[in-house]
Amino acid sequence: MIEFQQVNKTYRVAGRDIPALHPTSLTVPQGQVFGLIGHSGAGKSTLLRLINRLETPSGGTIIVDGEDVTAFNADQLRRFRQRVGMIFQHFNLLSSKTVADNVALPLSLAGELSRKQIDQRVAELLARVGLQDHAKKYPAQLSGGQKQRVGIARALATEPKILLCDEATSALDPQTTASVLKLLAEINRELNLTIVLITHEMDVIRRVCDQVAVMDAGVIVEQGPVAKVFLHPQHPTTKRFVQESENVDENEQHDDFAHVPGRIVRLTFQGESTYAPLLGTVARETGVDYSILAGRIDRIKDAPYGQLTLAITGGDMDAAFARFTEADVHMEVLR
Ligand SMILES: Nc1ncnc2c1ncn2[C@@H]1O[C@H](COP(=O)(O)OP(=O)(O)OP(=O)(O)O)[C@@H](O)[C@H]1O
Ligand SMILES: [Mg+2]
Repeated sequence: MIEFQQVNKTYRVAGRDIPALHPTSLTVPQGQVFGLIGHSGAGKSTLLRLINRLETPSGGTIIVDGEDVTAFNADQLRRFRQRVGMIFQHFNLLSSKTVADNVALPLSLAGELSRKQIDQRVAELLARVGLQDHAKKYPAQLSGGQKQRVGIARALATEPKILLCDEATSALDPQTTASVLKLLAEINRELNLTIVLITHEMDVIRRVCDQVAVMDAGVIVEQGPVAKVFLHPQHPTTKRFVQESENVDENEQHDDFAHVPGRIVRLTFQGESTYAPLLGTVARETGVDYSILAGRIDRIKDAPYGQLTLAITGGDMDAAFARFTEADVHMEVLR
């Protein structure tokens, strides 16, 4: 659905070039939720805004839905942007218009539907985002979560194929964030919409994304399926985001469990293996003993996973390690 071929973007400010995106190649398959994570200034918004050509690339080619959007003229661009919805951190609603009129706006601007058709489509959109009873309200009368739902309804009005989300949940509390993410996941599933989502929280990525790209200083430093990147981060930036999401503070992380005897391993269980009684079986069969130093069981999108750090003592340790490796479990020896 989206393909970047060596795309770069340099802003020119007061005679100086600011490289915001170094030459980047990237593919987002149709129907995926693709996450972009990175610190402030990493170039996330720049990359996102290149997709709907709110920014013009300094070099490279951008193909969206089979078309080279770098070659579009003004009229083609206007029509193209109707096929790419966007939502924002601060919602960008018009405060002088009702909820229904905010959602209707892209349809009135497109000028393709009658008033009656617009009203019907707005009613459908408001029902989809759970705001059917709020049509006549003004944005100031809504909660943050409700405002973002209006933003989503408005973004979907012209039946886009792609939805771009720039920090869409960053202004919301955790519970509201969860409900908005659930809505985005639903939309992705039911409308088969491709979603590109910016966040600075790994937890947002873990809950809704299929793929993730980690950005640092205008470069994608790590990219792949969420389970792989989240459970086995390679780049220091990725590791830091994962640690933050697990509430591990730096001191704790640097504690190498010096006072704990035995070998230290980290086991990662995914899918069905998460529920298998592996530890007990291996301990009984090989005579090793273990204590759990750290652990977490959670979900990545819909798939369960578990990650346990164990200190292992006594018994036939090599046999135990072999058993872990044989099972559908990823083992890293930390010490
Ligand atoms: N319109 C602009 N003119 C000049 N420089 C810009 C412009 N927009 C962004 N930049 C610069 O480009 C770099 C990347 O900015 P960008 O907004 O893409 O980062 P970001 O990852 O979205 O950050 P944040 O998390 O703070 O939103 C920064 O150095 C920024 O100052
Ligand atoms: Mg940004």
